[in-house]
Amino acid sequence: MHLNSSANGEHNNGRTFRSANTLGNMTNTATAAISNIGVIGAGTMGNGIAHVFAQSGYRVTLIDVNAAQLEKAIGTISKNLDRQVAKGTLTEAQKATALGNISTATDVAAGVAHAQLVVEAATENIDLKLKIFRELDTVAPPGCILATNTSSISITKIAAATRRPALVIGMHFMNPVPVMKLVEIINGYATASSVTDTITALCTALGKIPCAVNDYPGFIANRILMPMINEAICSLYEGVAGVEAIDTVMKLGMAHPMGPLQLADFIGLDVCCSILKVLYEGFGNPKYAACPLLVNMVTAGRLGVKSGEGFYVYTAGSKDMVVSSSFAGR
Ligand SMILES: NC(=O)c1ccc[n+]([C@@H]2O[C@H](COP(=O)([O-])OP(=O)(O)OC[C@H]3O[C@@H](n4cnc5c(N)ncnc54)[C@H](O)[C@@H]3O)[C@@H](O)[C@H]2O)c1
Repeated sequence: MHLNSSANGEHNNGRTFRSANTLGNMTNTATAAISNIGVIGAGTMGNGIAHVFAQSGYRVTLIDVNAAQLEKAIGTISKNLDRQVAKGTLTEAQKATALGNISTATDVAAGVAHAQLVVEAATENIDLKLKIFRELDTVAPPGCILATNTSSISITKIAAATRRPALVIGMHFMNPVPVMKLVEIINGYATASSVTDTITALCTALGKIPCAVNDYPGFIANRILMPMINEAICSLYEGVAGVEAIDTVMKLGMAHPMGPLQLADFIGLDVCCSILKVLYEGFGNPKYAACPLLVNMVTAGRLGVKSGEGFYVYTAGSKDMVVSSSFAGR
């Protein structure tokens, strides 16, 4: 494995393998230049990303086209900070400081005017992301790093919509952001290694564990996770075992905290289906084709937790795992 920890701005060209551990030891010098961060999209991921930056002392402008969503996000961040105070991991004063570090905007140009880094966490739609990055390229200050939290869209393609592809990178936070340690850092074909170094050091400063990978369909997390989930659904479809048996084998046999069918419900079956489509089209390999049962469930609106039913049924206020009547007795 070729390790490259230089910070001289050369391109990764999608071929250089980098060690996050090596880079994680870097001092804060690389991040010293970053104090103002724009976060685009105030949904599930955007509010978590704003939360962790603000808690670590960065000034954050949270930007969303929907003003009501911004209000909701600030409420969610406040509630999540309260939980940390109740656990004793944060003081009331630290909570107030973190909240004071966040401002909101509905206008992208105003929101990123003083940013040294923008993290985009808007809806997973390629046309939308390309439009956002075209705009960011014209309104963000020169030298501002443009990161995306996309789960599956090519960083190289997003970067090509800008005139600063060397400054575009993937920062794939995991859900829920304040809790999950990993940030998968994705180098686009043209991402400068100095940018990878800066973002790696920044993640370490947030208390996260950065892991750098290159830009191929599904990156690492979803390239490995989604075929496992798809195989679990195929096993159910073929009658090899029922929902509970499949999840129990993987929980108790492989020490997974959650079975693959429960995890698919949590992620959203529509999201799983669209990531499998990216893998299928990106590699041109039929092994990534979504199981017909998954496609049918998405078509029928059975999307998992968000729709109230997937492989399990979700009743508000209940933590019991109840298998959907579509699969009961199997
Ligand atoms: N949800 C997850 O578990 C998860 C995990 C990792 C990565 N991601 C990725 O993170 C990104 C966001 O996902 P999410 O689950 O938070 O989505 P979400 O639907 O909860 O939130 C998306 C937000 O983007 C806003 N938005 C849409 N267009 C916008 C625009 N032009 N400008 C500003 N804001 C805009 C919407 O109003 C919404 O508030 C996606 O790329 C997704 O693939 C999601």
